[in-house]
Amino acid sequence: MHHDSSRRTRRIGLLTGGGDCPGLNAVIWAVVRSAARTDIEVFGIEDGFDGLIAGGTTRRLSIADVRGIHREGGTILGTTNRGNPFRYPVEVDGVMTEQDCSDELVRAVRRIGLDGLIVIGGDGTLAIAEELSRKGVKCVGVPKTIDNDLGATDTTFGFYSAVTTAMEALDKLKTTGQSHDRVMILEVMGRHAGWIALHCGLAGGAHVILVPEIPYDIEPVLARIRARWDEERRHYTLIVVAEGAYPAGGTESHIAAEGAGTVARVGGAGLLLERTLVDAFRGDHWRRQRSVPEVRTTVLGHLQRGGSPGAYDRIVSIRFGCAALDLIERDQWNRMVCLRGTEIESVPLEDAIAQLHLVDPQGQLVQQARSVGTCMGDHWE
Ligand code: F6P
Repeated sequence: MHHDSSRRTRRIGLLTGGGDCPGLNAVIWAVVRSAARTDIEVFGIEDGFDGLIAGGTTRRLSIADVRGIHREGGTILGTTNRGNPFRYPVEVDGVMTEQDCSDELVRAVRRIGLDGLIVIGGDGTLAIAEELSRKGVKCVGVPKTIDNDLGATDTTFGFYSAVTTAMEALDKLKTTGQSHDRVMILEVMGRHAGWIALHCGLAGGAHVILVPEIPYDIEPVLARIRARWDEERRHYTLIVVAEGAYPAGGTESHIAAEGAGTVARVGGAGLLLERTLVDAFRGDHWRRQRSVPEVRTTVLGHLQRGGSPGAYDRIVSIRFGCAALDLIERDQWNRMVCLRGTEIESVPLEDAIAQLHLVDPQGQLVQQARSVGTCMGDHWE
């Protein structure tokens, strides 16, 4: 703790960017509470970087402003995943285009007198922080995302809360699937990474787990459903499909293409799989059966991003918040806090965004899923 009276009070900005996830408020809570023990004032920047661009707002955050919020989902600061200041969406002559508004942001940082920013975000938001740091805006990054796809940290907060929601959904789909003898498909989020699918599938007892890292063939999936009908006399099958999963030789399904300031919306993998299965069930083998299985698809969607953080995510978030403030106290900017084993450490921002963390098809988790009999949609068995 520094209390040097000759020094002016330091000011930092705090923002949440990209898609929200459980645990953001716990980071905010920890930053504000830790800062209250130092000479650092915290300014909350609203709606991601938008708070520092035309018409955006910031407000001083005190302990009273954050009381009890570490239990709550969402972010009291608001967020957006279309606010990249370097490629800001603006309408020119009725057409949406992208403009570089980063100079405006730098001016706002100076005007408010911020020494730097704590940026809580995923790969997109942290890449913006890194670009800003090269323009002289000092940043400390905090890794969040339900997708768990950041290379420089063992885990991001939000992930286990999302996995818990998806696991509970599977538990529910099991009972209705079992009652109706149906093939139940659950499509979960994760963008290009299969972490949520793999974890919730394992925890929720899915018979088939399809992830983007292992493009699937329909034959092994059908073989598993058939084996359950023919050999195990079990007439329901639980399938988890990551939204980014796709058939071998195919491509990721999108609900909407990328536009000015937005990335493509990934989704549709569940329904594609349902259609493929229903077509296959018209084949000979199934027609000889008493009846063919019915297929139902649930797209879990934003339920995975909502609600209170679980205990694990609360603790990681609080630890990340304290560690981010600690870096600033020690004047160590342009780094991202991260979890390595059981310790909170930090890495340079450029390392933080260097690599996506994807499921290793040869890794332990996939092997262990196979060991307990999970079909991963390939011809491994
Ligand atoms: O990155 C988090 C995430 O929830 C992804 O899993 C998903 O593809 C995407 O964000 C959805 O974004 P939006 O909230 O814009 O629909």
